[in-house]
Amino acid sequence: MKTRITELFGIKHPIIQGGMHYVGFAEMAAAVSNAGGLGVITALTQRTPELLAAEIARCRTMTDKPIGVNLTFLPSVTPPDYPGYIKAIIEGGVKIVETAGNNPAKWLPILKENGIKVIHKCTSVRHSLKAEAIGCDAVSVDGFECGGHPGEDDVPNFILLPRAAEELKIPFVASGGMADGRSLVAALALGAEGMNMGTRFIATKEAPVHENVKQAIVAASELDTRLVMRPLRNTERVLTNPAVERLLLKEKDLGAAIKFEDILPEVAGVYPKIMKDGAMDAGAWSCGMVAGLIHDIPTCKELIDTIMADAEAIIRKRLVGLLA
Ligand SMILES: Cc1cc2nc3c(=O)[nH]c(=O)nc-3n(C[C@H](O)[C@H](O)[C@H](O)COP(=O)(O)O)c2cc1C
Repeated sequence: MKTRITELFGIKHPIIQGGMHYVGFAEMAAAVSNAGGLGVITALTQRTPELLAAEIARCRTMTDKPIGVNLTFLPSVTPPDYPGYIKAIIEGGVKIVETAGNNPAKWLPILKENGIKVIHKCTSVRHSLKAEAIGCDAVSVDGFECGGHPGEDDVPNFILLPRAAEELKIPFVASGGMADGRSLVAALALGAEGMNMGTRFIATKEAPVHENVKQAIVAASELDTRLVMRPLRNTERVLTNPAVERLLLKEKDLGAAIKFEDILPEVAGVYPKIMKDGAMDAGAWSCGMVAGLIHDIPTCKELIDTIMADAEAIIRKRLVGLLA
C-alpha cells in the first residue's frame, strides 16, 4: 500500500509504533521496522543522551530499515538534556523524529537542518494546524481513545480525524484505538494516510516487557481503562488496578486542592516495576481502550502482515462488493 506516509518515511506499510516509555527499546523498534512499519525508540526511557546513542547503535545492529526516535517534551522544573538527546539522534543518523507533549518549534530548525523528518503527535485540530504552520512534515492525530495522554478536549477519532482532514495540508496518521485491518481501512476512509499504534504493539512477542504486561492487555476489555490526573490537567488513560483506584479516590477526596505530590506513590518511578518486573499493581501505566480488541500475542511481522491482508480484503471484497 502506498500513501503519503509510506512515501515520506520510506516504509513499506503505513503503520507506525508510537513512542512508549519503557517499551520503546531497540528490540521493539527493530521488530516493527523489520516487519515493514516504522519502529520508534523512546528517547527519555534512556537516562542520558549517551545511553540513547548506544540504544540507537544497538537498534542499527538489528535492522537496516528506517527507524524513528520519540522525543517527549514534558512539563518539568528541570527539563531533560534535550540538546544532548537531539545530538545523539543526529549523530546516530536517525532521519525521523516523533515529537510529543509540547510544541516542538524550538527544536525544529536543528532537526530540519540535519534532514530529519518530524511527525508531531497532537490531540486536537488546533495543535495539528500549529504543527503544520511551524514546519512539521506530518502529524499523528491522537484521539480520546488513546493510551497515554489524550489531552483535555475529549474528542474521539470518529470526529477528530475527519476534522483534521478538513483542515490539514500535511499528511497525518490516525492514532488511538487502532488495532487491526478494520482500523486501518477506517482511518484511511476518514482521511488519514496510515495509523499509529501503541497498546497493540505491547502485546507482541518481541515487545521487551514482562509477560504479565502482555497478558494484562489481552485480559482487559474496553471498559478497563481509567482517566487519571484530570484535576492536574495532565490527563492520562491507564489500565485500572488497585493503585489507580486509590489514586482516583485521592482525586475525589482532595478535589481541586490536589497536588502532584499527593499522587507520587501511584505514578512516580512505576514504569520499570511494571514493564520490567511485571509488578502489575505497582502504579498507573498507560493503556488504550483498544485493549478490548486485543486477543492474542503475535510477532510484529504476523501482526502487520495480518493487518495489511485484512485491510486489502475489506477494501477489495467487502467495500467494492457493496457497490456491485
Ligand atoms: C505504555 C505506554 C507508554 C507510552 N509512552 C509514551 C511516551 O513516552 N511518549 C509519547 O509520546 N507517547 C507515549 N505513549 C502513547 C503512544 O505513543 C500512542 O500515541 C498511543 O498509545 C496510541 O493509542 P493506543 O494505545 O490506543 O494505540 C505511550 C503509550 C503507552 C500505551
